[in-house]
Amino acid sequence: MRIHQLTCNIGAELSGVNLADAIHDDGLFLELRSLLVRHKVLFLRDQNFSRAEHVAFAERFGALEDHPVAGSDPEHPGLVRIYKQPDQPVDRYENAWHTDATWREAPPFGCVLRCIECPPVGGDTLWANMALAYEMLPKHIKEQIADLRARHSIEASFGAAMAMDKRLALKAQYPDAEHPVVRTHPESGEKVLFVNAFTTHFSNYHTPDRVRFGQDANPGAADLLRYLVSQAYIPEYQVRWRWQPYSVAIWDNRSTQHYAVMDYPPCHRKMERAGIIGDKPY
Ligand code: SIN
Repeated sequence: MRIHQLTCNIGAELSGVNLADAIHDDGLFLELRSLLVRHKVLFLRDQNFSRAEHVAFAERFGALEDHPVAGSDPEHPGLVRIYKQPDQPVDRYENAWHTDATWREAPPFGCVLRCIECPPVGGDTLWANMALAYEMLPKHIKEQIADLRARHSIEASFGAAMAMDKRLALKAQYPDAEHPVVRTHPESGEKVLFVNAFTTHFSNYHTPDRVRFGQDANPGAADLLRYLVSQAYIPEYQVRWRWQPYSVAIWDNRSTQHYAVMDYPPCHRKMERAGIIGDKPY
């Protein structure tokens, strides 16, 4: 296996490796797992394995989960279809900087995403290193956010375009989750800035040391949240990947955010994503 770092701060491309071999090869799997924690996103070309092998490989990291809004392959539960076609209305879920499903109490550990079909140009995906984003924050901001917690909502994101009854039913099934604004990566021990497009507000901002009067709360909190969310937009923290059919990206969802660029309609783009169940952030 050859390992080619794609930027100074995030992402490595692997060659000379067939991911399907790691279904049975423990040594190879453990090497991939440790490279994933180190580089945060691993990229591979020409992974022409079956859907069953895609699922079996991703399951080596842990059990898979479906998505309540995006559908899965009927024959391969856990393999979420992200299919964009010219004859379907363009939805806009992947083109916002996000960590997958932080509206869950236990957001995914990571994902194995494979390209089935892509436009001749466009449709790239970017990832950002959110451990570096935390590390580079000014000291006074680190102090300000050390004990903050925030709410993450499926209602305000996937639910927003739904009729009210459907939106409220979605929220009843997936109530907002609360997470620390700075989480600790359970394997690397890195501190990670953990707010993204699913984050609606801080849940413990309004304390007497921060807020003199009720009127102080919202402007201060909203500005701080906007500033923190915008850290993923900084190019020095990012890697950008151009897809080809059968390219794969494996990302650590605990330390990254990503953004799928939607610059390609009316072309087709078909991606299949195995999302691995994660732990409750602390
Ligand atoms: C996702 O946001 O999980 C999918 C990314 C992509 O389609 O490139």
